[in-house]
Amino acid sequence: MKLTVVGGGSTYTPELVDGLARLRDALPVEELVLVDPAADRLEPVGGLARRILARQGHPCRIVTTSDLDAGADGADAVLLQLRVGGQAAREQDETWPLECGCVGQETTGAGGLAKALRTVPVVLDIAERVRRASPDAWIVDFTNPVGIVTRALLRAGHRAVGLCNVAIGLQRKFAALLDAEPGDVHLDHVGLNHLTWETGVRLGGPGGTDVLPALLAGHGDAVARDLRLPRSLLDRLGVVPSYYLRYYYAHDEVVRDLRGGPSRAAEVAAMERELLTMYADPALDEKPALLARRGGAFYSEAAVDLVAALLGGTGSPYQVVNTLNSGTLPFLPDDAVVEVQAAVGPEGAAPLPVPAVDPLYAGLMANVTAYEDLALGAALHGGRERVFRALLAHPLVGRYATAEALTDRLIAHNREHLAWA
Ligand code: G6P
Ligand code: MN
Repeated sequence: MKLTVVGGGSTYTPELVDGLARLRDALPVEELVLVDPAADRLEPVGGLARRILARQGHPCRIVTTSDLDAGADGADAVLLQLRVGGQAAREQDETWPLECGCVGQETTGAGGLAKALRTVPVVLDIAERVRRASPDAWIVDFTNPVGIVTRALLRAGHRAVGLCNVAIGLQRKFAALLDAEPGDVHLDHVGLNHLTWETGVRLGGPGGTDVLPALLAGHGDAVARDLRLPRSLLDRLGVVPSYYLRYYYAHDEVVRDLRGGPSRAAEVAAMERELLTMYADPALDEKPALLARRGGAFYSEAAVDLVAALLGGTGSPYQVVNTLNSGTLPFLPDDAVVEVQAAVGPEGAAPLPVPAVDPLYAGLMANVTAYEDLALGAALHGGRERVFRALLAHPLVGRYATAEALTDRLIAHNREHLAWA
């Protein structure tokens, strides 16, 4: 089995390799190709990846290359984990929206639109080359914004599934609080990428007993603290929003906080420099504890599980993924991409049925889906007016003067990445 990671020089790669090594029975990988144009990252990351596998006696061969076509040739699955413009572009996304009183975030709101515009054309080009190099390969997209990028891939006819670690993170958190095995905790997870709610927490699988009311009654403070949302909000909703809903439910507090502190991009860039120095040390042969301070906790488990299921191995039968709505949420278009529980196997991901969604959440999902459609149009076809319309449609923007001011800033800060600007 051959896996190819595009963006393999990411400091997250040791997390993935650690998962491959620990979960080798689920996914017997013989060759792992790390593709990245940045040799200064690829060398230390590839070196540590080899030492992690050697320490665990894993026979997988690691290849590092800047040649995507060769790297993807004959791959069974290709994972996309790239960041166009790096942390420097992210820093911009997190900064200029604040000038207009809006949240500055890499995937949500105006910053997320900027990231989509930079990323979609690059990912589509990569996917075309992957299709030529290995027509049957599954593409697993972690590249943000995952909802929009996955929608772009599916619309272009690729065999793609989008993945995020928010659901697995909550599953692990709830399992610890409930003193249960993570595999026994099944989330009724509904929404769009980075816009999801847990409406049930079931023990033993999709048909299991819903323990969410007991979880909130017994551990509501711990859950609320983790999400940085008021406990009273969780009690009144009776569901658990993902921490990305904080950008909506606590918008003004978030803007205040973000204005007062260093950007997350700056923090991550400093961590990455430290990580790369650590990775270059030939004595290091495991993922360093510092990596746990990144947001991608459990991403390796989720990725290994998903690829194992797609390649017909031993992955869990139900997994939270980003895939075509196809009627699952009847108030959204069929070709929207939703993030829900799905039965995953060699044929792909088929969403499990979702009970009627409360208008309290359905309205926001529908609004953001419309924004995502406009954002994808802007990413594919370019043009100031398309950017403006996507921003005006976004529930975190929605005001004419604000959308205008954000449009100017988005274009000014991203000119070098936008072919049409
Ligand atoms: C979570 C999200 C990812 C995002 C990450 C950011 O894991 O699900 O989509 O990329 O956080 O983490 P970072 O350490 O880069 O802030
Ligand atoms: Mn995510």
